[in-house]
Amino acid sequence: MSTPTHSGKKRVFSGIQPSGEMHLGNYLGAIKNWVDAQYDNDNIFCIVDLHAITVPQDPQTLHRRSRDLAKIYLAAGLDPSRTAIFIQSHVKEHAEMAWLFNCITPMGWANRMTQFKEKQAEIKERSSVGLLAYPMLMAADILLYQADGVPVGEDQRQHIELTRDIAQKFNHDYGPVLKVPEAWIRSEGARIMSLQDPTKKMSKSDPAGCILLLDPPDVLRSRIMKAVTDSGREVRFDESRPGLLNLLTIYQLLSPPGTTRQDVERHFEGQGYGALKKELAELVVEGLGPLQRHFAELSKDEGHIEDLLKNGADRVRPIAQQTMAAAAAAMGLG
Ligand code: AMP
Ligand code: TRP
Repeated sequence: MSTPTHSGKKRVFSGIQPSGEMHLGNYLGAIKNWVDAQYDNDNIFCIVDLHAITVPQDPQTLHRRSRDLAKIYLAAGLDPSRTAIFIQSHVKEHAEMAWLFNCITPMGWANRMTQFKEKQAEIKERSSVGLLAYPMLMAADILLYQADGVPVGEDQRQHIELTRDIAQKFNHDYGPVLKVPEAWIRSEGARIMSLQDPTKKMSKSDPAGCILLLDPPDVLRSRIMKAVTDSGREVRFDESRPGLLNLLTIYQLLSPPGTTRQDVERHFEGQGYGALKKELAELVVEGLGPLQRHFAELSKDEGHIEDLLKNGADRVRPIAQQTMAAAAAAMGLG
């Protein structure tokens, strides 16, 4: 894998936890954007299993989900000849760099993370030390590769801000070793909402409100038809009607590139919610069809996926090792 200066392209790093089934929020908020921009950048996309174990996981399920997530990346259209795809725990430097960051990050910064506070409130005393350390591991992921951009959904903004703060503090205290990255968050699709409670984001922890990428067509259709909508008749992008707004946003994002909100509103002029849901259901079934077929195809050859993941880790490891060595030396280790 070339460095940004070699290729002249920006280096992009992102990751997803293999901790649940992938849903439309993951796809429209993250993976689809990676695929759309993959030929403009120098990409590294990770399957962050070390993050997944910050909450208890069944070992066999975790192992399988890591492979399934790799298949989702490929089935969604990532091209492994242009993009390194690898499993976080295959590159030991992630855990090593995270330790350095644990030691330089003030406790107050970690305690302020809203995702931590939410999870902590949910699981209380069963909460692990790793859950508090989660954002420093994420900073390690990104900073090891000197990434320019981190394409994520809106919910990750605070973690990227912390990553920037950690990079700046490191460079200030020990010398200029780390590149300060930017969050790349698209305004549309950055937050896909639950179909059952459109004031909450679509999330693995709320299966009823999710559209899973591998759901069969009849399940996809029924999920959309049962989606909660608001009272009102006109089909318009309206911030005061979050259920409708969410369905329209999904419709727009699955439509051909360049489709605007006005195009979508014009299309549904004079029609009601029923027509929107019916058309949206077909659009989702059609939109996910190729991904589902490709996933099934890839599942026939698990050995190929193992090779690909090993190759991905082998390609990125030298970059991680270089940054790790520079950071360790700057801190006086070794
Ligand atoms: P996670 O499933 O929490 O590991 O998230 C993986 C990626 O999907 C991250 O970039 C998230 O920002 C993005 N993501 C997760 N849920 C949503 C959602 N409901 N809407 C948009 N993006 C999302
Ligand atoms: N915290 C991210 C999420 O839950 C996953 C993640 C881990 C990540 N490391 C990363 C995302 C590095 C981007 C870059 O979605």
